[in-house]
Amino acid sequence: MIPAVDILEDVPLAPHTTLELGGDARFFLRATDERTVRDALRWAARRGVRVGILGGGSNLVVDDAGFDGLVVEMALRGVEEREEGDRVLVTAAAGEEWDPFVERTVAAGWQGLECLGGIPGRVGATPIQNVGAYGQEVAETITSVRVLDRDTLAFGSLAPQECAFAYRDSYFKRNPERYVVLAVTFALRPDAPPAVRYAELARALEDVEAPSSSTVRETVIALRRRKSMVLDFADENHRSAGSFFTNPVMSADEARRVVDRAVADGLVERAEDVPRWDVGDDRVKLAAGWLVERAGMHKGTRHGRVGISTKHALALVHHGGGTTEELLELAARVEAAVRDRFGVTLQIEPTRW
Ligand code: EPU
Repeated sequence: MIPAVDILEDVPLAPHTTLELGGDARFFLRATDERTVRDALRWAARRGVRVGILGGGSNLVVDDAGFDGLVVEMALRGVEEREEGDRVLVTAAAGEEWDPFVERTVAAGWQGLECLGGIPGRVGATPIQNVGAYGQEVAETITSVRVLDRDTLAFGSLAPQECAFAYRDSYFKRNPERYVVLAVTFALRPDAPPAVRYAELARALEDVEAPSSSTVRETVIALRRRKSMVLDFADENHRSAGSFFTNPVMSADEARRVVDRAVADGLVERAEDVPRWDVGDDRVKLAAGWLVERAGMHKGTRHGRVGISTKHALALVHHGGGTTEELLELAARVEAAVRDRFGVTLQIEPTRW
């Protein structure tokens, strides 16, 4: 049972999001243990109230009308480690802050999360969108995800295959009503070299011989900082949800058409100058930020009290005093510009309430 006093009413959600936008939660509960999460689901089911699960709010766009239901803030803490053969299995509760968690694993000398430093948010969100950056994603190291079934209220755990990880995608993302993520277990390696796969990261480390995981982490954070992709309240672009769109993945033929158009329009001299990644299966990922800029939506573009980041065309930012409506209008302008110029439809990356 949840003491009635723990459920708050009409709680502003904007301060719980990095965009600092959106209306109130009708009901709000901060959960610090698994039983409370389960009791909260039961409480909401009895009243026919819908439930939103909140982590760090760094990948969330809340409507100006707010959330007409119960928001459960995942504040479950705790990290456990155990050795298993040549790996260390580290389990972190959903409410652990992601960046300090990465820092801790890197400081311990473990490999596996070093490229994922500087990302805001909490551990529980990482399997949902298969958080990735600089050539690494959590799907590579997750060995199990502890969950609460939202229908049966049973606790359980999912193996990586059941999580159906893909680029910025998972079973959880496709079926948001099915589970609450309670904890995540990562298999890390004490004696493995760090992952230096992303071209930009490799260039930044070119003069460092055999960089350690902690050097890689620090280098990634420096790269992110230049793009305003770390949470820094002194940065004019700090109210953001990171990349606002995913990078579009398409058939090699479609990608060729986009590239040909860019060459024909004189946007680049050679086809090789269009950033893209071969993702296998004859499919290609293009850089949404590049498309946005070349579609004429430049860094620093303003739309009322929101705009495009001055440092990265893929991040939409809030300058204060704005609304989610303005943000979504700008997103629609960006989408339309890219569609008109390149025939590519961008997908919004953050979760929307
Ligand atoms: N680019 C531009 N203009 C811009 C931004 C980028 O032309 O304003 C070009 C860059 O020059 C580069 C290419 O686009 O050639 C890719 O840019 P970048 O390396 O910055 O990466 P991204 O594809 O825009 C993705 C992730 C980021 C992650 C970086 C690094 C997505 C949606 N975003 O961005 O993740 O940090 O790669 O791995 O996949 C996030 O999801 O919130 C996020 C920040």
